[in-house]
Amino acid sequence: MDARDIRNRAFAEAENAANADALERVRVKYLGRKGELTQALRSLKDLPLEKKKEEGPELQGLKRELEEFVEKRLVTFGKEWKKERHPDLTVPAKKLKRGHLHPLSQVERDIRRIFTGLNFSVAEGPELETEYYNFDALNIPAFHPAREMWDTFWVEKEGSETLLMRTHTSPMQVRYMEKNKPPFQVIVPGRVSRYEATDQTHNIHFLNIEGLMVGKDVTLANFKFVIEEFFHKFFAGKKIEFRYRPSYFPFVEPGVEVDIKLKGKWLEVMGAGMVHPRVFEYAHYNPRDWQGFAFGMGAERLAMIKYNIPDIRLFYSGDLRFIRQF
Ligand code: PHE
Repeated sequence: MDARDIRNRAFAEAENAANADALERVRVKYLGRKGELTQALRSLKDLPLEKKKEEGPELQGLKRELEEFVEKRLVTFGKEWKKERHPDLTVPAKKLKRGHLHPLSQVERDIRRIFTGLNFSVAEGPELETEYYNFDALNIPAFHPAREMWDTFWVEKEGSETLLMRTHTSPMQVRYMEKNKPPFQVIVPGRVSRYEATDQTHNIHFLNIEGLMVGKDVTLANFKFVIEEFFHKFFAGKKIEFRYRPSYFPFVEPGVEVDIKLKGKWLEVMGAGMVHPRVFEYAHYNPRDWQGFAFGMGAERLAMIKYNIPDIRLFYSGDLRFIRQF
């Protein structure tokens, strides 16, 4: 087998190929699995060492050049060398599976969107909180039985500060007031933790949405407007009735519990009230100058009502059969 002979013939034939198919035939003839050049390369191993050294590089070089030549020429026919670069347009189309946000994330986004639409800002705070912000600054001193309203995960002390996993997002009321000048209105979505038994409606953590609006003359009437607006938007198109029941939280006065009536059923959806003067004092606001309302609600609960979800634990199960339904 003579390398020069193969070279002459192969290049001449490739040059003369009139179309891509003809060129492909030339490629197979020389470079295919049983092609002349491939066989010549394969039979190198039977040659004496001297010959091998001489012909090996020559044949290898020829192979590379011929491949390159064919590839270039294919392009002039509007085709490319590699088969896999030709998509087969006759294969039936398949719908792509797209992922989506977790239902709880979707609800959180809805809530953020509705409140920002009402000119609220959004702030976030630490999940690992100090005893001071979670309790004391909210008018819940250590000796006060109201602390028992929140079963707490206490965290080992670091330095002088006693730490805990926040039991609500209310600590952000004072944190936010310390850093911002009123008037303002803000919501604080965030994970909170409670040391309690788990059941269909309780989980050791949940997504708490805090709200705080402070100004010179913000009243409970403003609260009612904002919150009814929010629920009408959140349960778009549904008929809702509202009920405000007196309630107790140490950091508001008066305190209320908000119920909504949906599809004939009364459901408790949030705690709220007018910010307690003591809380303003902790934030170094003069309670004679400022007043406002605060509220807190659980996003899972709203999601459960909206989408008929029977068990809060489903949100944290990671069960795709649940998640895929949204
Ligand atoms: N933080 C309270 C709770 O955890 C809810 C609340 C927030 C009540 C703001 C009044 C004002 O239950």
